[in-house]
Amino acid sequence: MVVRVATVAFEGIEARPVDVQVQISNGSVVFTVVGLGDKAVGESRERVRAALNAAGLALPAKRITVNLAPADLPKEGSHYDLPIAIAVMAAIGAIPADALSAYTILGELALDGTITPVAGVLPAAIAANARGHGLICPRESGGEAAWASQDMDVLAPGSLIQLANHFKGTQVLGRPTPAMRAQTGPQPDLRDIKGQESAKRALEIAAAGGHNLLMNGPPGAGKSMLASRLPSILPPLTPRELLEISLIHSVAGQLAGGALTDRRPFRAPHHSASMAALVGGGTHAKPGEISLAHQGVLFLDELPEFHGIM
Ligand SMILES: Nc1ncnc2c1ncn2[C@@H]1O[C@H](COP(=O)(O)OP(=O)(O)OP(=O)(O)O)[C@@H](O)[C@H]1O
Ligand SMILES: [Mg+2]
Repeated sequence: MVVRVATVAFEGIEARPVDVQVQISNGSVVFTVVGLGDKAVGESRERVRAALNAAGLALPAKRITVNLAPADLPKEGSHYDLPIAIAVMAAIGAIPADALSAYTILGELALDGTITPVAGVLPAAIAANARGHGLICPRESGGEAAWASQDMDVLAPGSLIQLANHFKGTQVLGRPTPAMRAQTGPQPDLRDIKGQESAKRALEIAAAGGHNLLMNGPPGAGKSMLASRLPSILPPLTPRELLEISLIHSVAGQLAGGALTDRRPFRAPHHSASMAALVGGGTHAKPGEISLAHQGVLFLDELPEFHGIM
């Protein structure tokens, strides 16, 4: 029998559906994962084996094959641990397989069976909702997933045992509530600036029209000070903008504790930052500073020193 559960692969901020198929058959005792996974996906075997052991479930002495379909789509990251473990649990009868068909699942496993947070839970939740699925994600990311829709089913267990108990009906998990980060202290305010009327006017025009600003002046004239106060006069985020920036920050793994923030981003990368840090990319493509500043301010202090982009 083949058990299938749904998960996602990320392409930018898009979450593409991925099918995790598990088959347990007679033959030599091996546990293989195929389907164009990277090193983290290959290593998930060991985490899944240890986490299932910690949950009191021994893997059967049989051949276990895991396929991540579509087989030609590259799979990156550690969020395949949980869907693989859950599919294996369903294949050995620890949870009912038919209960899983209505969920998209992502999460990383620790060796002791706890489910640890991963990046990209918000786009995964939105994709799951669009497919009419619920979402199973790590407990810490529950507050992020709950933003996708008010009436979608979100399960945020802390461990494999909690999830098994939920499906058994012995310890039913509640729906997490959407989390918003508490504002930490006041942000720098434009009213701190003495005089500089024309510079302040320029800042206001740039804020209102969404223009770029290039500041030029003698040292100590207040250029850095003015620029860092630009967010204080930007309009509040609309719900749509909030969602857009949260998707980017979620994929970049920058939503601490699964909480969204309603402040516009202010990114001030150092001038020694590499090209990949600024524009994104790298082996595991992540958004760079430019994408992270979307709908906010990208502050390049000491602009001529930026050798990466000049
Ligand atoms: N108009 C002003 N109102 C209040 N404080 C000011 C003003 N201009 C400068 N300052 C003070 O001077 C300090 C230095 O300013 P800032 O670092 O913004 O200068 P800068 O133009 O960026 O200089 P540099 O070219 O050396 O980077 C500020 O932190 C602030 O304390
Ligand atoms: Mg300066």
